[in-house]
Amino acid sequence: LNVVHIASEMAPVAKVGGLADVTASLAKAHQASGLLTEIILPKYDCIKYDDVKELKKMTTLQVPWGPDPNRTVETYVWSGLVDGLPVYFIEPNCTERYFWRGKFYGEPDDGARFTFFSRAALEFLAQRQHEAPDIIHCHDWQAAAVGPLLKETYRASGLSRTRAVLTIHNMAFQGHLNGAFLQHMGLTQRSAHVTSPDIMLDGNAAPPAPANGNGNPYAHMWLNLLKGAIVYADRITTVSPTYAHEVLGEEGKGLQHMLQRHRHKLAGVLNGLDYETWNPATDPCLPAHFTPEDTSGKRACKAAFLREVGLPFDGVLPGSNGHHSSNGNGAADGSGSPWGPNGRPLIAIVSRLTQQKGLHLMKAGLKAAVAAGAQVVVLGTAPDPKDQAEWEALAREVGAGSDARIILRHDEAMSHRIFAASDMLLVPSMFEPCGLTQLIALRYGTVPVVRETGGLADTVRDVAKGVPEHEKNGFTFTAKDAPAVEHALQRAINAYRDGRSWWQHELMPRIMRQDFGWTQSANTYQRIYTEAMH
Ligand code: ADP
Ligand code: GLC
Repeated sequence: LNVVHIASEMAPVAKVGGLADVTASLAKAHQASGLLTEIILPKYDCIKYDDVKELKKMTTLQVPWGPDPNRTVETYVWSGLVDGLPVYFIEPNCTERYFWRGKFYGEPDDGARFTFFSRAALEFLAQRQHEAPDIIHCHDWQAAAVGPLLKETYRASGLSRTRAVLTIHNMAFQGHLNGAFLQHMGLTQRSAHVTSPDIMLDGNAAPPAPANGNGNPYAHMWLNLLKGAIVYADRITTVSPTYAHEVLGEEGKGLQHMLQRHRHKLAGVLNGLDYETWNPATDPCLPAHFTPEDTSGKRACKAAFLREVGLPFDGVLPGSNGHHSSNGNGAADGSGSPWGPNGRPLIAIVSRLTQQKGLHLMKAGLKAAVAAGAQVVVLGTAPDPKDQAEWEALAREVGAGSDARIILRHDEAMSHRIFAASDMLLVPSMFEPCGLTQLIALRYGTVPVVRETGGLADTVRDVAKGVPEHEKNGFTFTAKDAPAVEHALQRAINAYRDGRSWWQHELMPRIMRQDFGWTQSANTYQRIYTEAMH
């Protein structure tokens, strides 16, 4: 099998969130099992070029693009290697400077930028006829135009046997742009039926200002790219089984009826974690290493991280004789801390700070945890300026003298140190297609406290649930209100205080040994590819 991923993110070179981790690690897993796997990305100016090896300009394309069918955009395709994976970067040389914006998303013309990217990616593949892929695996709305383009505009090209698999990582982003862009995609000339409102247009939405659309018959409607992708994909996946079920209802965010109609193509495949990148026994970002058999390095990571952010560590450093730096009330284990040798619990949040992630519950959890005597660290970015301002205010409010630290930036290396240092990770999402941070936390012996939704419900089993002991790995709650998150955190903190079951080699070593790697899910994708070919 020969698979090409078309995606807007890939770790570590172009990462905003979990999508980046998944394209890179799924491709790596498939490459390791013998699949020919390539990736196509936009050539953003903000790519981490240090991590791209052998980058070179490979070819120049003329990509049809514009209301005038004869207009083309000169586009360079660069090739390179990222972690041993062949990657192609699409660079349009046009006045819009689509990928010269200093950021990945959040531009008013995002719809046009990524529709162009999808078209250029197909143009590239169509010109490499002798290497036509069996499968094009499209990720999220940014690659959603690929399905309709492949099946309509490029039907007669060398790609006639290529199948499209769509993975939906998040229904909250569907990709809207002015209906006039159907013409840019070469769809209106080739196929009348894409312009039926059912297929790609949202007829009842308020239109944006037409883009070059004067007199265009579709300029008064929105184009919904994800909708088109659902119709045209040969197979559709979501990133967890529970989310696959949820999107057929309210979590379909307006597209549930479309998904119900295409449900025969839909499957939920749980994301895996890249266990090479995320390995506490070898992670180069950490000051000390640890394993399920010897977790003492985790305590050293905690002490170092607390020092880094100016919070006191009141436990006992591994190898020391029991003295510590706390206000100690004296404890039976000789550590002097009422919390035992690991000190007070450190509770982390590592997240985009958006409504999806449960902003009000994060704030409620932070306050409740500090009130219960825990230390808290938040590492996140808020794409919405209003949320950013609120978190900045909260960061000032909690200030240097408190038990919480709020760090508002994207910092990959620090995220590793936090996952290793913390005792618990709070993930109170309103909805969560899969979620990777709870999987990273498990791998690093950090107990997840999560809201039971989507992939969080598929991966975290509450210690109090009637499930087999070896599956229990965290604390969960279901309601979307502050008391629910406070109660779950309090249960976790109580369990931590009663250190025997936590540290003395039950909960922590057990969660570190659970397997959320790619093996099983990569095989499932391979089966889906094979089915799509028949
Ligand atoms: P989503 O993709 O919805 O944001 P996921 O849990 O799937 O959520 O993936 C988020 C990824 O981004 C994880 O790898 C997480 O560690 C990382 N991440 C989130 N916020 C930050 C940040 N501020 N700094 C570094 N990494 C972050
Ligand atoms: C999206 C989802 C997240 C998922 C990630 C990778 O960003 O919000 O839940 O883990 O994609 O699939």
